[in-house]
Amino acid sequence: MKSILPAGPKGFEIFRIIQLAAISPIAFFDEIHRKYGNISFFEVLRKRFLFLFDPEDIQRVLQTNHSNYTKSIFYKELKPLLGIGLLTNEGNFWKNQRKLIQPTFHREKMLHYVDIMREESEEMVQEVRSNLSKSQTQEIDVSKQFMASTLQIVARAVFDVDAKNQVGMIGAKLEEYLHAAIERIRSPFSAPLWLPSRSTWRVKKSAKAIHDWIVGIIQEKKLNPGKDLVSMLWEVRDEETQEGMSLNQIRDEAVTMILAGHETTSNALTWALYLLAQNPPKFQKFEEELEKLKSLELRPDTISQFTYARMIIDETLRLFPPAWVVERKSIKEDTLGGYKIRPNTNISISVYKLHHDPRFWSDPEIFLPERFAPNRTPPKPFTYFPFGGGPRICIGNAFAIWEAVILLVSFCRNFRVEPGSREMKIDPSITLRPKSGLYLKVISKK
Ligand code: HEM
Repeated sequence: MKSILPAGPKGFEIFRIIQLAAISPIAFFDEIHRKYGNISFFEVLRKRFLFLFDPEDIQRVLQTNHSNYTKSIFYKELKPLLGIGLLTNEGNFWKNQRKLIQPTFHREKMLHYVDIMREESEEMVQEVRSNLSKSQTQEIDVSKQFMASTLQIVARAVFDVDAKNQVGMIGAKLEEYLHAAIERIRSPFSAPLWLPSRSTWRVKKSAKAIHDWIVGIIQEKKLNPGKDLVSMLWEVRDEETQEGMSLNQIRDEAVTMILAGHETTSNALTWALYLLAQNPPKFQKFEEELEKLKSLELRPDTISQFTYARMIIDETLRLFPPAWVVERKSIKEDTLGGYKIRPNTNISISVYKLHHDPRFWSDPEIFLPERFAPNRTPPKPFTYFPFGGGPRICIGNAFAIWEAVILLVSFCRNFRVEPGSREMKIDPSITLRPKSGLYLKVISKK
């Protein structure tokens, strides 16, 4: 084991690279890997930062030695909104909550969610159609459409309420929150959350508006339970203590599901359409599958027949992983890449970088759904991990894949897409999204 530290920027170079991280986080990870290799380190304002690009080291942090790590300082910024929901919770409390919540994603529950997804996909098609001009062709912001549809789906799965009238308000509040949080994450000089300041006021104000809306619905669900996640959470009991979940805990879990479960899937769908618009031969191949299966209803037992749709989603999640960076903090000493890593070191893992790495992918920048054909060898562990890995792997991954396939198939059965006239700019924020929406030329097929 080497007692020296991994290579990394020093002195003034640190400030230059932090600036780059704020302006262009993707270029930042590229540069840090190119200059310093698979493991690199720097220390600034007494905070230690480590960057990992080797799949084995990443597997150690996320999976084989996961108990040595907690979520990083980055997740702290989500706490005013998410409290101690699954994404931000830790230790035994997290383990217990995960065990209690896992059954709400079991197959029989998923059947109900699929009904919601199908109904909402039909609704989405109607909305897009009503937005098209008489010529049946128009440039529309597909990201806005998917954001509304995925929010509506997750709100119905979590609360069984038709949130359509409030989707606009909640979407805007979530957006406002994430905007304020990312500004704080990117600035090393943000005031701590307990200190009154403009930025802490903004995050707390939008968190409160969302909480107020959600708490009312959760209380109502206790009196009138349905098939939704919140009603199930009111029912669950701890195996040992037989205690149920508190109102605040259910609120934190519900708001976590809403946040974690809509923007990520919406971004995946937006990028899938973007890639299809850019690659007409792949779109044509998809249309051949849609034609072959044109009378097949989207049901849990038929979804797997849409093989090419699934391959498109898998490849989109490689090129544009919505959760593009995963972070941890060491709580005990560990050895990574042959170096001794001290406790209290923040660790950044760029999923995006690994997914674009020529060591693991031939022609990494090319959109090639065929990489994920069912007869192909699956990628090596932690070279492809859009849903994270280890015990904290995304709890909603099956939900997300079914939802993405259903919405993509429904959209493309009705519309074709071509590149829009506005330039696409990528915005690596908390999730990887297009900056200022994504306008595509949408052409009705009917
Ligand atoms: C394409 C869509 C999605 C992507 C790419 C995605 C990605 C991820 C990733 C990478 C993590 C792990 C974060 C970490 O280790 O720090 C995660 C966790 C999580 N995701 Fe997802 N997610 C998606 C959809 C969903 C959906 C639909 C839901 C819920 C309905 C959901 C709920 C959660 C929750 C609750 C966690 C925390 C799990 C835990 O720590 O136990 N996600 N997601």
